[in-house]
Amino acid sequence: MSEEELYLGREQTQIKHFILRKYLERFGPIVGTFAESITYVDCFSGPWNLASDDLRDSSFAIALEELRKVRTTLAERGRTLKLRCMFLEKKAGPFAKLREFGKQVQDAEIETKKGKLEDNIEAICQFVKKGGRWTFPFIFIDPTGWTGFAMDLIAPLLQLKPGEVLINFMTDYIRRFIDYPGQQTQKQFTSLFGSGESRFSRASKKRRWRRWNKLVPAPNSVSG
Ligand SMILES: C[S@@+](CC[C@H](N)C(=O)[O-])C[C@H]1O[C@@H](n2cnc3c(N)ncnc32)[C@H](O)[C@@H]1O
Repeated sequence: MSEEELYLGREQTQIKHFILRKYLERFGPIVGTFAESITYVDCFSGPWNLASDDLRDSSFAIALEELRKVRTTLAERGRTLKLRCMFLEKKAGPFAKLREFGKQVQDAEIETKKGKLEDNIEAICQFVKKGGRWTFPFIFIDPTGWTGFAMDLIAPLLQLKPGEVLINFMTDYIRRFIDYPGQQTQKQFTSLFGSGESRFSRASKKRRWRRWNKLVPAPNSVSG
């Protein structure tokens, strides 16, 4: 299956995977000059909506492939780089495939974990810590919506030193709903941003309803 076929109708995923690939391609050789290992953590692993049977259009397979390339390049320069990965997924079906994938990897340390990110922040920090002083963590956060990665929740991951975090922040989707005035939705956005202030929009509740009503023909049927 060609790359084009693999991502047919899934252009957003294609771009996301392109960014992940390119990020690691540049990040790896820089970090690999001083780190003994890279600890890659996929917080929302999937597999999710894949077209391939061998899972090669998944973020975790792409990350591992890129990190292996980095390791090979560094080995040619006489440097040894260890790869450590933690893959997290909350749903049983995808997790079974993820675990199977992990079991087949022989050349990297792989830990697969079934559960929600919300319940595994400490486990992630512990896994990173187990890599020792000279590991460099890279955390990938790729949720399906705007929940599950509230600022307070992921703070310990953002504070890892050293460390880098890549978040797929679905701006278009979030912009569409940020003015929805339902209390629950507003609470979710406040916790996502860590405050009610720093947002794309600061519309009053009245203005939010007006905007929302323009978008949704039968506003009374929408609850939040
Ligand atoms: C957008 S998909 C991930 C796609 C994957 N990162 C990729 O690019 O191939 C989000 C995945 O996270 C899982 N998920 C949703 N909420 C979660 C949570 N709170 N904690 C962990 N996994 C979650 C979903 O079941 C789904 O498989």
